Amino acid sequence: MKRIIFLFGLVTLTSCTYHEVSLCDTDEPTYSDCVKPIIAANCLDCHSNGSAFGELLTYEELKWSIVDGDLIERIQMNENDAGFMPYGGEKLNKSDIQILIKWKENGAKNN
Ligand code: HEC
Repeated sequence: MKRIIFLFGLVTLTSCTYHEVSLCDTDEPTYSDCVKPIIAANCLDCHSNGSAFGELLTYEELKWSIVDGDLIERIQMNENDAGFMPYGGEKLNKSDIQILIKWKENGAKNN
């Protein structure tokens, strides 16, 4: 039994080293492991460094936009609709959109 546990540990360790493993648990998405990387990859080119379009850089800024603003509506629009985000880009994939919605439903916590 010990040997099996050891082997399992080894396989887990190896897969972490050689593959890009997302730490995001999509059932309980957290800000740091799930939400922040999605925003960083798709939105910060235009929404950081004092952007006139609104910053999404910090937890507070993003929370405001998701809870009080219309961020979720915008990412669910069709690409050609006025207000669609990411502006001029491609729609986020379904799982990323679901992660942002779920995080909001769970209280948009700084976790
Ligand atoms: C290529 C630049 C660009 C990218 C990338 C981009 N945006 Fe925007 N964003 C804009 C511009 C320009 C505006 C202002 C025009 C408007 O409101 O439609 C804006 C406005 C917004 C607003 C409204 C801001 C406010 O204060 O009400 C939200 C919310 C938003 N973007 C979310 C996002 C999200 C989420 C992403 C990533 C999925 C994203 N944007 C990616 C350019 C961009």
